Amino acid sequence: MPENSYARPYDDSPTDHPAIPPASSVVVSGASRGLGLALVQDLLANGVNVAAFARTITPKLRELSAARPQMLLTRSIDITRTDDVVRFLDEANRQFGSLDGLINNAAVGQDSLLVTTSEESIHKIVETNLIATLNLTRLFLRRLFAERRAGRVVMITSICAQRGYPGLAVYAATKGGLESATRALAREYRERLAINCVAPGFFGSEMSASLGQEQLESIARRTPTGKLVDTTDILPVVRSLILEQTNLNGQVLTVDGGASA
Ligand SMILES: NC(=O)c1ccc[n+]([C@@H]2O[C@H](COP(=O)([O-])OP(=O)(O)OC[C@H]3O[C@@H](n4cnc5c(N)ncnc54)[C@H](OP(=O)(O)O)[C@@H]3O)[C@@H](O)[C@H]2O)c1
Repeated sequence: MPENSYARPYDDSPTDHPAIPPASSVVVSGASRGLGLALVQDLLANGVNVAAFARTITPKLRELSAARPQMLLTRSIDITRTDDVVRFLDEANRQFGSLDGLINNAAVGQDSLLVTTSEESIHKIVETNLIATLNLTRLFLRRLFAERRAGRVVMITSICAQRGYPGLAVYAATKGGLESATRALAREYRERLAINCVAPGFFGSEMSASLGQEQLESIARRTPTGKLVDTTDILPVVRSLILEQTNLNGQVLTVDGGASA
């Protein structure tokens, strides 16, 4: 296990609060495409080991893993299947020695008014985005604290958690749930955990593909910076939460060009 000040017995005295070190081995959920894939590439470029999963291993993810097999572990895992997630964390732990960062990025979207959304769809969205994400966070934290280490978690939420958008009620509820949980967890684990949310505005990806050109142009017009969010706007914000000393905890950082200002 790497040297870490949290490897010694926990002492709650006011002087015993070392800064949480930058994460060196990070789990990324939903890494097959879109923002998740971009996050994997950004972490690798910054020397961070990555354990990346999604249900599909895309050619790009396979290519990245073949180029750096020591730094990148990729597996086809459905986040809602706990046994598979546990096996994946075990394997990642063996490969990297320990895991001290988690980026909760996997999610499914929605594009339906609530009255036309099936009960099955509601269950699927809540199970993937909220229940399975909290479960992965629980499994990650149990390992981290069993090793008496400190770590960092980033939840990718959405501007939809803070502002209303038609057709996204269930999705918005899951992202709002993660933001509430983040505040509670920052208090629960205090100086052993830096946990924050990054809430992007709409950006181009498979998830947002149902938005028409007209809708995208209208969002850009209403955005103070005049342009839609790009994944390259989100990467430095997540990177700083994973690698820099910021003293941010329990917060939601909104990356939307000021659209919600
Ligand atoms: N695009 C936007 O406008 C926007 C705006 C705000 C926030 N966000 C958030 O940003 C994050 C990334 O979104 P994106 O736009 O990049 O979406 P995306 O292209 O649809 O990617 C979603 C990722 O989640 C994975 N995933 C979905 N269900 C999964 C499951 N059951 N198990 C494991 N992985 C699963 C997908 O892989 P598989 O399908 O292969 O499993 C994929 O890798 C999400 O949390 C999203 O809510 C997006």
